[in-house]
Amino acid sequence: MLLLWASLPLDREVPSLRIKTGVSDISIQILSRADCASQDKHMQADFRIAKNVSQSLKRSLKTGGLEVSGRKIIARNRSDLSKAWARYYDLLAAQFVERIGRRRFRVILEAGCGKGQLTIPLLRRLPREVKVIAIDSSKGPYAGWSKVLSQELRRAGLEKRVRSFRSDARRIRGIESESVDIIVSNELLCDLPYDPQLEKALIEFYRILRPGGFMIHGEWSSSPAAEPQAFLVKHWPSWTPDQLFSIMRKNGFHNFQVTYFDTTIHFGYENALKELQTWGATKRFLRRNDAVLKREGIELPYEHMVECEK
Ligand SMILES: C[S@@+](CC[C@H](N)C(=O)[O-])C[C@H]1O[C@@H](n2cnc3c(N)ncnc32)[C@H](O)[C@@H]1O
Repeated sequence: MLLLWASLPLDREVPSLRIKTGVSDISIQILSRADCASQDKHMQADFRIAKNVSQSLKRSLKTGGLEVSGRKIIARNRSDLSKAWARYYDLLAAQFVERIGRRRFRVILEAGCGKGQLTIPLLRRLPREVKVIAIDSSKGPYAGWSKVLSQELRRAGLEKRVRSFRSDARRIRGIESESVDIIVSNELLCDLPYDPQLEKALIEFYRILRPGGFMIHGEWSSSPAAEPQAFLVKHWPSWTPDQLFSIMRKNGFHNFQVTYFDTTIHFGYENALKELQTWGATKRFLRRNDAVLKREGIELPYEHMVECEK
């Protein structure tokens, strides 16, 4: 389950809003911005920061039909949204490939592949002889995603290079031990938020990975983006790289490294509303924050990418 948390960046102790995503389980509202109004210092700091944000967005450029400001992809209008996500995942795929580097590999397993958001740009960047095994449990709020994956792979003409099937990462059926060279995932580990869940998946990953095999997992950071912005999305629950280091080490992995994917998407008002609704925000939440959403939009957190070897 993915949880998102929008907070005032200078005041981690006073989170303003809490949104739990997914269809079934929505819990909202710890404190509103109005509840924080007594914290004048923080509110003033916010307004100063908000001004900086607007200024930095003004310095943006148009690239490939999309507005980009530094490492920020700007999805200002509805028509920008799908292009912005495609661009985001393409850059993310490039970073995965860069981290894989010169390793020799024939078989990659992607766990929690979802609708293929990463799978497809990754396949386009990998040598043709590489086979991808894409697994996803495709249930709960993600029910039906494996069907979307099959359609998207066909549309992209990539279906022959992928073996995709529904499977829980904690019990991977039909894959022999030590038969996979590389395991990747993006935004999967946050869906395994308790130690025993994560450990079961890691035990499976260790089993199917060949000795010397490589594993890399990307996840939105639990801290709001470092750049100042008055209204940010905070990812929760999220394993920190330190926590992942301990638990992966305990389960036999070594040679850890952490890198960061510091690209983000800035969603303008309309797109911010759409994204927040997808993540489970209620009408009440959106009404209450309408003014700040109009003024600031929202922004994705950065990603940390934890890699290690068997
Ligand atoms: C937040 S989505 C991320 C999808 C995609 N990887 C991306 O980067 O956009 C999490 C995905 O992990 C899948 N997932 C969650 N728990 C899983 C589990 N135990 N085993 C396999 N897949 C799982 C969900 O079905 C969903 O498709």
